[in-house]
Order: sequence, then C-alpha cells, then structure tokens
Amino acid sequence: MGSENYIVGLDIGTTKVCAIVGRSAGHSVEIVAYGVSPCSGLRKGVVVDMDVTVESIKKAVEEAEASSGLSIKAAYVGIAGSHIKCFDSYGATGIKGKEVTKGDLAKVIDSASSVYVPLDRDVLHILPSDFIIDGQDGIVQPVGMSGVRLEAKVNIVTASHSVVENLLKCCERAGVRAIDVVLEPVATSRAVLNDDELDSGVALVDIGGGTTDIAVYKHGRLRDTSIIAIGGSHLTNDIAIGLRLSQKEAERVKKTYGCALADSVGAAEEMDVAGINGEEKKIPRRYIAEIVGPRCEELFGLIRSELKDHLLYCAVLTGGTSLLTGIDRLAEAALGLPVRTGTPQRGSLSAGTVYESLRSPVYSTCVGLMLYGLDSEYESCIHEDVMDRVSRWFKNWRMPRIKQPFKQSIRVLTDKI
Ligand SMILES: Nc1ncnc2c1ncn2[C@@H]1O[C@H](COP(=O)(O)OP(=O)(O)OP(=O)(O)O)[C@@H](O)[C@H]1O
Ligand SMILES: [Mg+2]
Repeated sequence: MGSENYIVGLDIGTTKVCAIVGRSAGHSVEIVAYGVSPCSGLRKGVVVDMDVTVESIKKAVEEAEASSGLSIKAAYVGIAGSHIKCFDSYGATGIKGKEVTKGDLAKVIDSASSVYVPLDRDVLHILPSDFIIDGQDGIVQPVGMSGVRLEAKVNIVTASHSVVENLLKCCERAGVRAIDVVLEPVATSRAVLNDDELDSGVALVDIGGGTTDIAVYKHGRLRDTSIIAIGGSHLTNDIAIGLRLSQKEAERVKKTYGCALADSVGAAEEMDVAGINGEEKKIPRRYIAEIVGPRCEELFGLIRSELKDHLLYCAVLTGGTSLLTGIDRLAEAALGLPVRTGTPQRGSLSAGTVYESLRSPVYSTCVGLMLYGLDSEYESCIHEDVMDRVSRWFKNWRMPRIKQPFKQSIRVLTDKI
C-alpha cells in the first residue's frame, strides 16, 4: 500500500492536541495510530502562546509517529473560535435547456463565491446549501438534470486571517504542513452523525474545553454553524472559585464528581477534595452540581437561541464536556429535543484496538478531520483546479517540507454532491 493512503487529522484544541493517523483500505478506513498531548497554548480556540502550542503539537505528532513507525509531514488541521463568521451567498448560471455538467456546477458555485471578503479574513469553505433549477429548489444533485437556469445558495465560512496564520505558523514550527484548515464542526459531523440525523435535521453540539461549536444539518447539508466561547474550562474555573480549589483539583473534582443536575445528587452524598494547602476535606457533592448546573443552563440557553430558526429532529452532544453526568438530560430539557452523546462511529472505520481507544467524545473532532482528509481525496471535487491541487498535495505527502507560506485558497466542500 502506498504512503499516499495515509491521512493525518490534527486537532489543536484548548485543552489538548491530538493527531490521528488513518489508512484507507478499500471501502474502510483503519486508524493506525494516534498521539495526544495536553495543551495550554490556546484560549477559546485561538492560539495565545505559540511556544507552548508548538511543543504540544510536536509531542502529539511524535507519539503518533512512534506508534505507527511513519514520519508525519502534513495533516488536516481543525479551526474553531468566535472569530469564525459565516454568511450566505447566491449565484446563477444559464444551462440553455441542456443537462447540468460538473463544469456548470463549478460555474454556479464560482458565481455564488464572487463576493467581497475583507482582507483580514480568509475563506475556509464554500458549502453549497441548495440548488435550484428553473425555480425548483431543494435539488440535492443537479448534475445530469435538465433545465434553463441553475442557481446555487452557498454558505461561505470565513476566519480571521491572523488567527489562521498563527495556527499555520505553529504547525510549520512543529514540522507539520497544513494541507487544509477545516472548520471543526464540519469535521466532527463526519465522525459522529448518521445519515438519518443528517437528513432529518440535527444540531451537533461539540462542547470542548474553551468553545462550544454548533453545526446544524438538514437534508444532508450544513445549514448553519456558530461558535460560543464557553466550554468545560469555564466549569472548572467556576468550581475552583466556588470551592476555593486549585485549577488542577477543580478539574479532577469535576471529572470525578461533576453533575449538571443538582436534583440527581443524593442529599447525603459527599466528595473528597484537597484544599489549596493540600488539606483533605469532605464536602457535599451537590455543591458541585449547584455550581456547574447554572453554567450549563446558561450555555444551553445560548445554544437554544442559536437553534431557534431550525426545525430539528434531535441534538447530538460531543466533545469532552459531553461526558459530564446529567448534561444530556439538562440539554433535552433546555432544547426540547431528544439528545444523544456522540462518539466516533464505526461507519467506514474498521474495528481494532486503536479505534476502541478513540471511542470517546473527546476524539470526535480529530477522527472527523482524518475522515475529512480521506473524503477530500476520494470525493470528486467541483473545481478541477482544486482537485489538481489536492492531488499534488497528496503526491508531496512524504517529500521534505518546502518552506513556503500557506496559500489560502477557496475550497469547495462537495458534501454529498
Ligand atoms: N468526565 C468528564 N466530565 C466532565 N468534563 C470532562 C470529562 N472529561 C473531560 N471533560 C472536559 O472536557 C474538556 C475537554 O474536551 P475536549 O477534549 O473536547 O476539548 P478541546 O478539543 O481541547 O477544546 P476546544 O474544542 O474547546 O478547543 C475539558 O474541559 C475537560 O475538563
Ligand atoms: Mg475540540
């Protein structure tokens, strides 16, 4: 099997960096290795300390390299944070009564993408949300259909240029070339959502350490994305302040005793905590629920207002904070939707010990980034030049890194086209 079959997802999160190496084998994908390293170089999804971030990337990548025996030179890198802005655009082209070709599709998306983007912003994705032929909307796959006029509605995802640049610099300094910078919820959805959810209408809510990323899918397409700058670190901070504990102890207490619903904790339940002088004490467990519960309610209040324009079938929680006891029930009540916790699904992933170790909501984004990379290679892209570029990138996969700035380009996500 050639080296070009290896794909690496690199999730640079607020609490950890994770690198996952996947290998395509026919119709299935084998997760070969992974590496994880704690990271404190980001705040709310944005790099604030480059040296710390570079070190964490190096450690995670080295761990993945050591267990796979491969030399990682490039990866699909995730991005999130409140600097992400999405807007809708629209384009049209004439098809003169003939069949729609891939070229027509490229043309109509080009036309929808021809919008002014400020110089301080980079376009990450152009996501088609609807195709219309002669006034008939809701067309999923226009290629091969006949008509006179083809229209496209697209969602353009942009990021702050400086944030992207700093993320890329960290990767470069850690010796990893970013093949593509991918909006995290777009990647995560590939790892945790099933076709039924994607079609019927789902809100994917990734509650990480520093941010909560929301993506709404319906009829198989991304309809909306938003990012709230609240995550598990806020809960830890609230516990540290509320119970006068160090951050480390507050984090331990949250993971061991944390609960989002005060009424599900028995009145007599106690927990052991170490005060800032190291003294052990017992305190009622419901204290923690009384601190964490209101913060979770605040978060789900914000999520509810982000989702108010969408008629949905269910919500899927993922990210490390979705492991908090009772958060799914609190979410169900707050959102008025059935809720499940999403972990990387088997889908095309082949079973194995590495896959089993990654079956946690903590790894959803990184597995999704790896799957996104595979899709970019195997799905037909709309723009031929984009396809050529992707093929070139893969040919250079194990070549020595060429020192040149990452050229931000407009990417078209084919998402089910
Ligand atoms: N069992 C648990 N109970 C409660 N919270 C947990 C548990 N396990 C992990 N967490 C929290 O999950 C968060 C980390 O989640 P995750 O790894 O998804 O974040 P990240 O990807 O590093 O951050 P972000 O996506 O915000 O940049 C931390 O705040 C951690 O405390
Ligand atoms: Mg994350």
